[in-house]
Amino acid sequence: MKLLTSPESNQIKVLAATDAWLHRNLNPAKILNIKEQARADRFVVETARTQFAFARAFLRTALGHALNIPAEDVTFGTGPHGKPFLAGQPSQSGLQFNLSHCSGLTLFAATLDSSVGVDVEQPDRSIDRHRFAQRFFHRLELERLSGLSPKEHRDVFFRIWTQKEAWLKALGVGLDLPLSSFAVTGEQGEAAALTCWDSDASAAEKWRLHSLELQGYPVTICSESNTWSLETELLL
Ligand SMILES: CC(C)(COP(=O)(O)OP(=O)(O)OC[C@H]1O[C@@H](n2cnc3c(N)ncnc32)[C@H](O)[C@@H]1OP(=O)(O)O)[C@@H](O)C(=O)NCCC(=O)NCCS
Repeated sequence: MKLLTSPESNQIKVLAATDAWLHRNLNPAKILNIKEQARADRFVVETARTQFAFARAFLRTALGHALNIPAEDVTFGTGPHGKPFLAGQPSQSGLQFNLSHCSGLTLFAATLDSSVGVDVEQPDRSIDRHRFAQRFFHRLELERLSGLSPKEHRDVFFRIWTQKEAWLKALGVGLDLPLSSFAVTGEQGEAAALTCWDSDASAAEKWRLHSLELQGYPVTICSESNTWSLETELLL
């Protein structure tokens, strides 16, 4: 079965795999290289180790299918803040990608010649949403959250969180950019946009945020605005 063909220039291809699918279909021990196996072994908590290993095996498998090469032969470089990219021969394909994983769901997205970032979060994790938002969200995002019912607050909180993360991951800057220095907007299913970026408002127009719910998990895919067609496949 071929998981993925290379996207077209206006397209974002998304694969979302449940843990059940990953465990049924992949064998990380056969796919990860020595460095990746060593990184997996350094996780003290077994669930974190397993999650990393299967997510990396999924990343390699999806890219291998898109590039028509074995998963083991995919080679990565790493950006200054840790964002992986294709290195060596495969980099000439123009394929760009990003990955996000949490307990239960792993998300992969690929585009052609455009940056992409993805984020999935676990909505049932215990977290003090009000304190968290006060600390990390922009003033406009706090306004979006005010006066909502508990259910709406939870939904909008996770939408904002995944939107912020997906954008940071598209840029590849990690946490170098303060989370409260920019605001995201838009409801589920809409092509949301960045409303403002304190340091450069015009640059925000370059990006598009697609928020949706997959298997009950809040998900956002961020891409450059020339990639408007989104194709999502759920692997159960
Ligand atoms: C590392 C970071 C990029 C994402 O971390 P995360 O949300 O814990 O993890 P995700 O599962 O979404 O993404 C991890 C994957 O992104 C990729 N990645 C790593 N660094 C990256 C970067 N700088 N940019 C984009 N992608 C990156 C890798 O494929 C990584 O997979 P791996 O860890 O299995 O190698 C970073 O932004 C971070 O630590 N964020 C947490 C910030 C936070 O507290 N946000 C609050 C909500 S607004």
